[in-house]
Amino acid sequence: KTAQYVLGIETSCDETAVAIVKDGKELIANVVASQIESHKRFGGVVPEIASRHHVEQVTMVLEETLNQANMSMDDIDAIAVTEGPGLVGALLVGVNAAKALAFAHQKPLVGVHHIAGHIYANRLEQEFEFPLLSLVVSGGHTELILMEEHGSFDVIGETRDDAAGEAYDKVARTLKLPYPGGPHIDQLAHQGEATIDFPRSWLGEGSFDFSFSGLKSSVINTLHNAKQKGITYKDEDIAASFQASVVDVLATKTYKAAKQYNVNQVIVAGGVAANKGLRERLNDQFSEEEGMSLLIPPLSLCTDNAAMIAAAGSIAYEQGHRAGWDLNGNPSLTL
Ligand code: KG4
Ligand code: ZN
Repeated sequence: KTAQYVLGIETSCDETAVAIVKDGKELIANVVASQIESHKRFGGVVPEIASRHHVEQVTMVLEETLNQANMSMDDIDAIAVTEGPGLVGALLVGVNAAKALAFAHQKPLVGVHHIAGHIYANRLEQEFEFPLLSLVVSGGHTELILMEEHGSFDVIGETRDDAAGEAYDKVARTLKLPYPGGPHIDQLAHQGEATIDFPRSWLGEGSFDFSFSGLKSSVINTLHNAKQKGITYKDEDIAASFQASVVDVLATKTYKAAKQYNVNQVIVAGGVAANKGLRERLNDQFSEEEGMSLLIPPLSLCTDNAAMIAAAGSIAYEQGHRAGWDLNGNPSLTL
Protein backbone atom coordinates (compact mmCIF):
# COMPACT_ATOMS: atom_id res chain seq x y z
CA LYS A 1 0.00 0.00 0.00
CA THR A 2 1.32 3.41 -0.94
CA ALA A 3 1.35 6.43 1.34
CA GLN A 4 -1.90 8.18 2.11
CA TYR A 5 -2.03 11.99 2.06
CA VAL A 6 -4.88 13.84 3.72
CA LEU A 7 -5.38 17.58 3.42
CA GLY A 8 -7.02 19.17 6.47
CA ILE A 9 -8.92 22.46 6.72
CA GLU A 10 -9.79 24.20 10.01
CA THR A 11 -11.79 27.44 10.33
CA SER A 12 -13.92 26.87 13.45
CA CYS A 13 -12.75 29.93 15.38
CA ASP A 14 -10.07 32.53 14.73
CA GLU A 15 -7.36 30.63 12.86
CA THR A 16 -7.54 29.89 9.14
CA ALA A 17 -5.50 26.73 8.79
CA VAL A 18 -4.63 24.13 6.15
CA ALA A 19 -2.23 21.20 6.50
CA ILE A 20 -1.17 17.96 4.84
CA VAL A 21 -0.50 14.81 6.86
CA LYS A 22 0.99 11.54 5.57
CA ASP A 23 -0.44 8.25 6.86
CA GLY A 24 -2.15 10.02 9.76
CA LYS A 25 1.13 10.47 11.61
CA GLU A 26 3.60 12.53 9.65
CA LEU A 27 3.30 16.27 9.23
CA ILE A 28 4.14 17.32 5.66
CA ALA A 29 2.97 20.96 5.64
CA ASN A 30 1.17 23.14 8.17
CA VAL A 31 0.03 26.73 7.65
CA VAL A 32 -1.90 28.79 10.21
CA ALA A 33 -3.10 32.35 9.56
CA SER A 34 -4.03 33.80 12.92
CA GLN A 35 -6.60 36.57 13.29
CA ILE A 36 -5.74 37.33 16.90
CA GLU A 37 -4.59 40.86 16.05
CA SER A 38 -8.00 41.72 14.52
CA HIS A 39 -9.95 40.50 17.55
CA LYS A 40 -7.62 41.83 20.25
CA ARG A 41 -9.14 45.29 20.51
CA PHE A 42 -12.56 43.71 21.15
CA GLY A 43 -11.21 41.52 23.93
CA GLY A 44 -12.46 38.33 22.27
CA VAL A 45 -13.38 36.72 18.98
CA VAL A 46 -16.01 38.65 16.97
CA PRO A 47 -17.88 36.05 14.84
CA GLU A 48 -18.58 38.33 11.86
CA ILE A 49 -14.98 39.43 11.64
CA ALA A 50 -13.80 35.83 11.95
CA SER A 51 -15.96 34.67 9.01
CA ARG A 52 -14.81 37.52 6.82
CA HIS A 53 -11.15 36.85 7.52
CA HIS A 54 -11.58 33.15 6.78
CA VAL A 55 -13.08 34.00 3.38
CA GLU A 56 -10.19 36.35 2.63
CA GLN A 57 -7.48 33.93 3.80
CA VAL A 58 -8.53 30.39 2.97
CA THR A 59 -7.42 30.25 -0.68
CA MET A 60 -4.02 31.75 0.09
CA VAL A 61 -3.48 29.44 3.04
CA LEU A 62 -4.35 26.45 0.85
CA GLU A 63 -1.89 27.53 -1.86
CA GLU A 64 0.82 28.16 0.69
CA THR A 65 0.29 24.68 2.16
CA LEU A 66 0.57 22.95 -1.24
CA ASN A 67 3.69 25.03 -1.98
CA GLN A 68 5.26 24.09 1.34
CA ALA A 69 4.59 20.42 0.63
CA ASN A 70 5.68 20.78 -2.99
CA MET A 71 2.50 18.95 -3.96
CA SER A 72 -0.60 19.52 -6.08
CA MET A 73 -4.19 18.46 -5.39
CA ASP A 74 -3.52 15.39 -7.57
CA ASP A 75 -1.29 14.02 -4.81
CA ILE A 76 -4.03 14.29 -2.16
CA ASP A 77 -6.11 11.21 -1.28
CA ALA A 78 -8.82 12.86 0.81
CA ILE A 79 -9.95 16.21 2.20
CA ALA A 80 -10.81 16.51 5.91
CA VAL A 81 -12.55 19.54 7.36
CA THR A 82 -13.75 20.64 10.80
CA GLU A 83 -17.56 20.39 10.71
CA GLY A 84 -18.05 21.51 14.34
CA PRO A 85 -18.30 22.59 17.04
CA GLY A 86 -17.38 26.24 16.59
CA LEU A 87 -18.77 29.51 15.22
CA VAL A 88 -21.28 28.62 12.51
CA GLY A 89 -20.26 31.34 10.06
CA ALA A 90 -16.60 30.47 10.52
CA LEU A 91 -17.19 26.72 10.13
CA LEU A 92 -19.15 27.27 6.91
CA VAL A 93 -16.16 28.88 5.19
CA GLY A 94 -13.99 25.81 5.77
CA VAL A 95 -16.77 23.36 4.95
CA ASN A 96 -17.59 25.12 1.69
CA ALA A 97 -13.93 25.42 0.72
CA ALA A 98 -13.51 21.69 1.37
CA LYS A 99 -16.62 20.82 -0.63
CA ALA A 100 -15.52 22.98 -3.58
CA LEU A 101 -12.07 21.37 -3.57
CA ALA A 102 -13.47 17.84 -3.26
CA PHE A 103 -15.91 18.50 -6.08
CA ALA A 104 -13.39 20.13 -8.41
CA HIS A 105 -10.69 17.49 -7.85
CA GLN A 106 -12.96 14.46 -7.37
CA LYS A 107 -11.64 13.68 -3.89
CA PRO A 108 -13.38 12.00 -0.97
CA LEU A 109 -14.54 14.34 1.78
CA VAL A 110 -14.43 13.65 5.55
CA GLY A 111 -16.01 15.72 8.34
CA VAL A 112 -14.00 15.99 11.58
CA HIS A 113 -15.04 16.95 15.11
CA HIS A 114 -12.78 19.76 16.36
CA ILE A 115 -12.05 17.94 19.64
CA ALA A 116 -11.15 14.71 17.86
CA GLY A 117 -8.69 16.91 16.00
CA HIS A 118 -7.15 18.29 19.20
CA ILE A 119 -6.72 14.73 20.47
CA TYR A 120 -5.18 13.47 17.22
CA ALA A 121 -2.59 16.28 17.22
CA ASN A 122 -0.80 13.97 19.65
CA ARG A 123 -0.55 11.19 17.07
CA LEU A 124 1.79 13.40 15.02
CA GLU A 125 4.21 12.96 17.93
CA GLN A 126 3.75 9.37 19.01
CA GLU A 127 1.54 6.36 18.22
CA PHE A 128 -1.49 5.92 20.49
CA GLU A 129 -1.57 3.12 23.07
CA PHE A 130 -5.09 2.10 24.02
CA PRO A 131 -6.89 2.38 26.30
CA LEU A 132 -5.93 6.01 26.62
CA LEU A 133 -7.25 8.98 28.53
CA SER A 134 -7.27 12.43 26.97
CA LEU A 135 -7.57 15.69 28.86
CA VAL A 136 -8.94 18.24 26.40
CA VAL A 137 -8.56 21.79 27.67
CA SER A 138 -9.24 24.71 25.34
CA GLY A 139 -11.11 27.99 25.12
CA GLY A 140 -14.38 26.16 24.51
CA HIS A 141 -13.83 22.74 26.09
CA THR A 142 -12.73 20.98 29.25
CA GLU A 143 -13.26 17.24 28.95
CA LEU A 144 -11.83 13.93 30.04
CA ILE A 145 -12.23 11.43 27.21
CA LEU A 146 -11.56 7.71 27.30
CA MET A 147 -10.56 6.00 24.06
CA GLU A 148 -10.57 2.20 23.71
CA GLU A 149 -9.66 2.31 20.02
CA HIS A 150 -9.27 4.72 17.09
CA GLY A 151 -12.33 6.84 16.47
CA SER A 152 -14.08 5.87 19.72
CA PHE A 153 -14.61 8.69 22.23
CA ASP A 154 -16.24 8.21 25.63
CA VAL A 155 -16.66 11.48 27.54
CA ILE A 156 -16.25 10.59 31.24
CA GLY A 157 -16.17 14.15 32.53
CA GLU A 158 -16.77 17.68 31.31
CA THR A 159 -17.16 21.23 32.54
CA ARG A 160 -20.53 22.23 33.92
CA ASP A 161 -19.92 25.92 33.21
CA ASP A 162 -16.81 27.70 31.92
CA ALA A 163 -14.07 25.96 29.99
CA ALA A 164 -10.57 26.17 31.51
CA GLY A 165 -9.33 28.48 28.74
CA GLU A 166 -12.40 30.66 29.12
CA ALA A 167 -11.63 31.07 32.84
CA TYR A 168 -8.06 32.03 31.93
CA ASP A 169 -9.29 34.58 29.40
CA LYS A 170 -11.84 36.10 31.82
CA VAL A 171 -9.38 36.40 34.71
CA ALA A 172 -6.86 37.89 32.28
CA ARG A 173 -9.40 40.48 31.21
CA THR A 174 -9.96 41.40 34.88
CA LEU A 175 -6.21 41.92 35.19
CA LYS A 176 -6.34 44.02 31.99
CA LEU A 177 -4.11 41.63 30.09
CA PRO A 178 -4.49 41.31 26.30
CA TYR A 179 -6.59 38.61 24.59
CA PRO A 180 -6.11 35.67 24.62
CA GLY A 181 -5.07 35.87 28.24
CA GLY A 182 -3.98 32.29 28.92
CA PRO A 183 -0.32 32.70 27.91
CA HIS A 184 -0.04 36.04 29.80
CA ILE A 185 -1.41 34.57 33.04
CA ASP A 186 0.88 31.58 32.60
CA GLN A 187 3.89 33.87 32.30
CA LEU A 188 2.88 36.06 35.26
CA ALA A 189 2.17 32.97 37.37
CA HIS A 190 5.79 31.92 37.05
CA GLN A 191 6.93 35.25 38.49
CA GLY A 192 4.57 35.13 41.47
CA GLU A 193 3.69 33.07 44.55
CA ALA A 194 0.40 31.21 45.10
CA THR A 195 -0.29 33.13 48.33
CA ILE A 196 -4.09 33.35 47.94
CA ASP A 197 -6.12 30.24 48.62
CA PHE A 198 -8.66 30.27 45.78
CA PRO A 199 -11.37 27.56 45.79
CA ARG A 200 -11.06 24.24 44.01
CA SER A 201 -14.27 22.68 42.68
CA TRP A 202 -14.14 18.91 43.20
CA LEU A 203 -17.89 18.39 42.61
CA GLY A 204 -18.15 15.39 44.86
CA GLU A 205 -16.27 12.14 45.35
CA GLY A 206 -15.69 10.25 42.13
CA SER A 207 -16.87 13.01 39.78
CA PHE A 208 -14.74 13.72 36.74
CA ASP A 209 -16.71 16.85 35.90
CA PHE A 210 -15.25 20.33 36.21
CA SER A 211 -16.45 23.79 37.20
CA PHE A 212 -14.44 26.98 36.85
CA SER A 213 -17.00 29.76 37.17
CA GLY A 214 -16.80 29.79 41.01
CA LEU A 215 -13.04 30.21 40.82
CA LYS A 216 -13.38 33.00 38.27
CA SER A 217 -15.90 34.81 40.51
CA SER A 218 -13.68 34.32 43.53
CA VAL A 219 -10.76 36.00 41.75
CA ILE A 220 -12.97 38.91 40.68
CA ASN A 221 -14.45 39.28 44.20
CA THR A 222 -11.04 39.12 45.85
CA LEU A 223 -9.78 41.93 43.63
CA HIS A 224 -12.94 43.97 44.21
CA ASN A 225 -12.82 43.57 48.01
CA ALA A 226 -9.10 44.30 48.12
CA LYS A 227 -9.68 47.56 46.27
CA GLN A 228 -12.37 48.60 48.80
CA LYS A 229 -10.16 47.74 51.75
CA GLY A 230 -7.14 49.39 50.21
CA ILE A 231 -5.21 46.13 50.03
CA THR A 232 -3.12 45.51 46.94
CA TYR A 233 -2.17 42.16 45.53
CA LYS A 234 0.54 41.71 42.99
CA ASP A 235 -0.86 40.58 39.62
CA GLU A 236 1.83 37.92 39.65
CA ASP A 237 0.46 36.46 42.89
CA ILE A 238 -3.15 36.56 41.67
CA ALA A 239 -2.05 34.77 38.49
CA ALA A 240 0.00 32.20 40.42
CA SER A 241 -2.84 31.50 42.88
CA PHE A 242 -5.45 31.20 40.11
CA GLN A 243 -3.21 28.93 38.08
CA ALA A 244 -2.47 26.77 41.13
CA SER A 245 -6.18 26.15 41.56
CA VAL A 246 -6.85 25.34 37.88
CA VAL A 247 -3.80 23.09 37.56
CA ASP A 248 -4.54 21.29 40.83
CA VAL A 249 -8.07 20.36 39.77
CA LEU A 250 -7.14 19.41 36.17
CA ALA A 251 -4.14 17.30 37.20
CA THR A 252 -5.81 15.60 40.20
CA LYS A 253 -8.88 14.54 38.22
CA THR A 254 -6.79 13.39 35.26
CA TYR A 255 -4.63 11.29 37.58
CA LYS A 256 -7.62 9.71 39.34
CA ALA A 257 -9.35 8.89 36.04
CA ALA A 258 -6.14 7.42 34.60
CA LYS A 259 -5.85 5.10 37.62
CA GLN A 260 -9.52 4.18 37.72
CA TYR A 261 -9.62 3.22 34.03
CA ASN A 262 -6.12 1.76 34.14
CA VAL A 263 -5.05 3.39 30.89
CA ASN A 264 -1.76 2.88 29.07
CA GLN A 265 -1.41 6.46 27.93
CA VAL A 266 -2.50 9.91 29.04
CA ILE A 267 -2.61 12.61 26.39
CA VAL A 268 -3.26 16.31 26.77
CA ALA A 269 -4.84 18.43 24.05
CA GLY A 270 -6.14 21.93 23.32
CA GLY A 271 -4.82 25.44 23.82
CA VAL A 272 -4.46 25.18 27.60
CA ALA A 273 -2.16 22.16 27.09
CA ALA A 274 0.41 24.85 26.27
CA ASN A 275 0.29 25.91 29.93
CA LYS A 276 3.71 25.55 31.58
CA GLY A 277 2.29 24.99 35.05
CA LEU A 278 0.00 22.20 33.82
CA ARG A 279 2.75 20.55 31.80
CA GLU A 280 5.13 20.57 34.77
CA ARG A 281 2.55 19.19 37.19
CA LEU A 282 1.44 16.39 34.85
CA ASN A 283 5.04 15.50 34.07
CA ASP A 284 5.78 15.18 37.80
CA GLN A 285 2.62 13.21 38.44
CA PHE A 286 3.05 10.64 35.68
CA SER A 287 6.85 10.32 35.56
CA GLU A 288 6.80 7.63 38.23
CA GLU A 289 3.78 5.72 36.93
CA GLU A 290 4.84 2.34 35.53
CA GLY A 291 3.17 1.50 32.21
CA MET A 292 1.45 4.85 31.84
CA SER A 293 3.03 7.21 29.34
CA LEU A 294 2.24 10.93 29.17
CA LEU A 295 2.01 12.67 25.83
CA ILE A 296 1.72 16.45 25.43
CA PRO A 297 2.04 17.98 21.95
CA PRO A 298 4.48 20.79 21.15
CA LEU A 299 3.04 24.27 21.65
CA SER A 300 2.32 24.80 17.93
CA LEU A 301 0.05 21.73 17.87
CA CYS A 302 -1.80 22.63 21.10
CA THR A 303 -3.65 25.66 19.75
CA ASP A 304 -5.94 25.46 16.72
CA ASN A 305 -4.34 24.14 13.53
CA ALA A 306 -5.29 21.95 10.57
CA ALA A 307 -2.60 19.29 11.04
CA MET A 308 -4.74 17.89 13.85
CA ILE A 309 -7.80 17.86 11.56
CA ALA A 310 -5.85 16.04 8.83
CA ALA A 311 -4.56 13.55 11.44
CA ALA A 312 -8.03 12.80 12.82
CA GLY A 313 -9.42 12.83 9.26
CA SER A 314 -6.86 10.21 8.16
CA ILE A 315 -8.22 7.69 10.67
CA ALA A 316 -11.83 8.51 9.81
CA TYR A 317 -10.99 8.11 6.11
CA GLU A 318 -9.29 4.75 6.77
CA GLN A 319 -12.34 3.65 8.74
CA GLY A 320 -14.51 4.41 5.72
CA HIS A 321 -16.23 7.58 6.90
CA ARG A 322 -17.32 9.82 4.04
CA ALA A 323 -19.25 13.08 4.03
CA GLY A 324 -21.75 13.90 1.30
CA TRP A 325 -22.41 17.17 -0.50
CA ASP A 326 -24.89 17.96 2.27
CA LEU A 327 -22.03 18.36 4.78
CA ASN A 328 -22.80 21.40 6.89
CA GLY A 329 -21.16 23.40 9.68
CA ASN A 330 -22.64 22.22 12.98
CA PRO A 331 -21.88 24.56 15.90
CA SER A 332 -23.06 22.01 18.48
CA LEU A 333 -21.73 18.79 16.94
CA THR A 334 -21.23 16.02 19.54
CA LEU A 335 -18.24 13.68 19.62
O1 KG4 B 1 -7.54 25.19 21.40
P1 KG4 B 1 -7.55 26.66 21.29
O2 KG4 B 1 -6.52 27.31 20.42
O3 KG4 B 1 -8.93 27.16 20.76
C1 KG4 B 1 -10.13 26.59 21.14
O4 KG4 B 1 -10.54 25.56 20.51
O5 KG4 B 1 -10.71 27.12 22.11
O6 KG4 B 1 -7.47 27.23 22.79
C2 KG4 B 1 -7.42 28.60 23.06
C3 KG4 B 1 -7.40 28.79 24.56
C4 KG4 B 1 -7.54 30.25 24.98
O7 KG4 B 1 -8.52 30.33 26.01
C5 KG4 B 1 -6.16 30.60 25.52
O8 KG4 B 1 -6.17 31.60 26.52
C6 KG4 B 1 -5.71 29.26 26.07
O9 KG4 B 1 -6.16 28.32 25.12
N1 KG4 B 1 -4.25 29.17 26.23
C7 KG4 B 1 -3.63 29.05 27.43
C8 KG4 B 1 -2.23 29.05 27.18
N2 KG4 B 1 -2.05 29.17 25.82
C9 KG4 B 1 -3.29 29.24 25.27
N3 KG4 B 1 -4.14 28.95 28.67
C10 KG4 B 1 -3.27 28.83 29.68
N4 KG4 B 1 -1.93 28.84 29.54
C11 KG4 B 1 -1.37 28.94 28.30
N5 KG4 B 1 -0.03 28.94 28.17
ZN1 ZN C 1 -9.49 24.33 19.55
